Amino acid sequence: MNPLLEVRNLVTKFYTLDGVVHAVSGVSFDLQEGETLAIVGESGSGKSVTVLSLLGLIPTPPGRIEQGTALLRTPLGQKDLLQLSKAELRDVRGGQIGFVFQDPISTLNPILTIGEQIKETLTRHLHLSAEKAKAQVIKLLAEVGIPDPEMRYKAYPFQLSGGMRQRVVIAIAIACNPHIVIADEPTTALDVTVQAQIIDLFNRLRRTLGMTMIWITHDLGVVAGLADRVMVMYGGRIVELSTVDDLYERPQHPYTAGLLGALPRLDSQETRRLVSIRGTPPDMLLPLRHCPFSWRCDYASERCWQEIPELTSTAPGHEVACFYDMEKGGLRDG
Ligand SMILES: Nc1ncnc2c1ncn2[C@@H]1O[C@H](COP(=O)(O)OP(=O)(O)O)[C@@H](O)[C@H]1O
Ligand SMILES: [Mg+2]
Repeated sequence: MNPLLEVRNLVTKFYTLDGVVHAVSGVSFDLQEGETLAIVGESGSGKSVTVLSLLGLIPTPPGRIEQGTALLRTPLGQKDLLQLSKAELRDVRGGQIGFVFQDPISTLNPILTIGEQIKETLTRHLHLSAEKAKAQVIKLLAEVGIPDPEMRYKAYPFQLSGGMRQRVVIAIAIACNPHIVIADEPTTALDVTVQAQIIDLFNRLRRTLGMTMIWITHDLGVVAGLADRVMVMYGGRIVELSTVDDLYERPQHPYTAGLLGALPRLDSQETRRLVSIRGTPPDMLLPLRHCPFSWRCDYASERCWQEIPELTSTAPGHEVACFYDMEKGGLRDG
């Protein structure tokens, strides 16, 4: 089946005073209708820039999308998100693609009640009458687990807790039945217990609405229960792409194996962070001539310092960009 979203060879750079930041270097992936794809990787690996490029939210300058296509296929036809005008992208955002970012405050307008803000999305994108829109807002507030929706309709963002604010942002994101919801570390700014509640909410919406979702996180621990497939990014590239089960069972990239090894036991109280792989992420200012992970890799051999490994299939639905075969214990053929 044709994917709902088909991203090919996305290249996004930032032209800063310090030099050119190679934020995303040739990212390609598909998103099937109804599936949740998790994008995982350390801070600075290009996760946000990947999705911001699709949403037309890269600040230009200093940013520039230099290459790529991103086909969104809907019943009304297909379009390349990277070729749309600013006005067309505004229609896509919130209407066809909903998004939830880390910080609900940056998405909400402080001087409008939450009801008005959700209503605005409905009237702008779906052209509902004011009366119909209000009823729909109350329904949405209840759907995302906000108690007393009739009363909360009139609340301002500052009157709500961080978790409730994020629920409002989620209500806005799903208000227009978007084809895709993109969530970029939506729980990072919240307390641990609230994080779990928000993840539960996404899981419920995924099931009840059949939502198609891209979920960005630095926490591989939450991915198992939430995503169907995982895309591991490192240094602005995809280093591994797989179903969740296969990734947990047979990680093919030393970086992924490191991330999984870094997962603390589920009964531990520690917050899970990807910190225990030695070394630091690559300098994104340097144009890359070899594997971005070679500095930190226990298996790096001569070839890894001479060429950039391409993403290649190692099993059905499992791709990896690495010359070393961890299962065989030696370089891959070819
Ligand atoms: N507006 C910007 N100006 C310059 N560099 C940026 C900008 N936004 C992101 N970058 C750089 O792009 C790279 C990828 O960032 P990002 O996609 O935000 O990483 P993350 O995986 O943490 O989401 C980083 O090196 C970051 O510093
Ligand atoms: Mg980010």
